[in-house]
Amino acid sequence: MKLKGQSTQKNKIKLQTYNEVDAKIMAASQSDLDPFHKLIFFNPAMKFNRTASLLIAKSYVNYFGKGVTIDGLCSTGARGIRYSLEADVDELVFIDANPIASGVCKKNLKLNKIDAEIKTIDFNLLGAHIKTPVKIIEVDAFGSAIPFLFTAINSIENEGLLGITATDYAQLAGARVKPCIRHYDAVPYNCDCGHEIGTRILMGKIAKVAASMDKAIKPIGTFFSRHAGRVMSIVENSANAADLMLEEKIGYAYFCNKCKDQGTFAKNKIREFSLCQKCEEKLIIAGPLWIGKTIDEKIVEKSLEYSKKKDDESYKQAEKMFSTLLSEDTFQPLFYDSHQLCSWAKLNVPTFVELERKLNDAGYRFSRTHYSPTGFKTDAHAWEIVEII
Ligand SMILES: C[S@@+](CC[C@H](N)C(=O)[O-])C[C@H]1O[C@@H](n2cnc3c(N)ncnc32)[C@H](O)[C@@H]1O
Ligand SMILES: [Zn+2]
Repeated sequence: MKLKGQSTQKNKIKLQTYNEVDAKIMAASQSDLDPFHKLIFFNPAMKFNRTASLLIAKSYVNYFGKGVTIDGLCSTGARGIRYSLEADVDELVFIDANPIASGVCKKNLKLNKIDAEIKTIDFNLLGAHIKTPVKIIEVDAFGSAIPFLFTAINSIENEGLLGITATDYAQLAGARVKPCIRHYDAVPYNCDCGHEIGTRILMGKIAKVAASMDKAIKPIGTFFSRHAGRVMSIVENSANAADLMLEEKIGYAYFCNKCKDQGTFAKNKIREFSLCQKCEEKLIIAGPLWIGKTIDEKIVEKSLEYSKKKDDESYKQAEKMFSTLLSEDTFQPLFYDSHQLCSWAKLNVPTFVELERKLNDAGYRFSRTHYSPTGFKTDAHAWEIVEII
């Protein structure tokens, strides 16, 4: 496939080599200054996202074995190359519709001594070019992953791993409501925990697309970092599991603006949640969204173990995040922002050490959340937290 004007454009692209952990990635020069306007996309700021994702993938491979792995929208191949070098995956296939990107990906495979196939095709034509189903599929699109969800879920084998990146948080986190309703069939809510709600809306959408194909998802590693959400799930071929998932894991989030109570409930409880159970104020409802667990403990514990094995700042950051994920996922969804809650209650903001001690003394649990440096999770209600502080 040749793009109109390809050779002239190709001649104009100045390449530069970036080092990312063990990989060398040739990309358009100054991608670090302006990754979004290069003919071949590469964003060095996504290094942490790639590191944390590959550590989860490595853990998955440890428990579920290897197989064909597709870097579905590969651009320079950065993600797949790092999976090959650091996560022990093999039988890689790199896909990108942009022939200029495929050309650079080819150079990068050679540079990193990786033997893999490259296909310059539309991802949604995957099944016509590759024997499916496959073990692992990565979808790392610009903005929304929605145009690729159906193909990805349809092409994955039973208990295969699906990795989804989304950067369309203007809609998912509630700044733009109508596009979120259009694209995700869900109402977002722009509030302190908007990014958690957005990530759960994304998970809900992946779950519903899977259910439409008699499949269920089991999220094993979900996180948000630097404007990008990441959902890594095992996909199970089972209509019964899909029914159960829709019944138990899809619901809504509620918020009371009068007493600050918040939480989630399953879809069939919607009639019970129009008014606040504490102060009878009309509740704000967001969703539908995923209300289940967002990680698999065993997988993340192993990822945490792997994150300690390399002396690299993104590994150290991943280690910290995995510890937080293991703690925060033992709580119900959503969190409070200590600054916002204290400002609303006209209280001085305690340190987290103080707050944890006070909550524990009163018989409640406490956890930091990776979604926000000022956020915390607890099983106490807002009015209980305020009293305790
Ligand atoms: C965000 S970039 C991928 C970044 C890459 N995974 C990384 O880690 O640097 C998205 C890529 O998707 C490619 N793309 C967009 N639409 C596509 C389609 N329909 N099929 C295949 N590739 C597509 C673009 O050419 C672009 O290279
Ligand atoms: Zn209330």
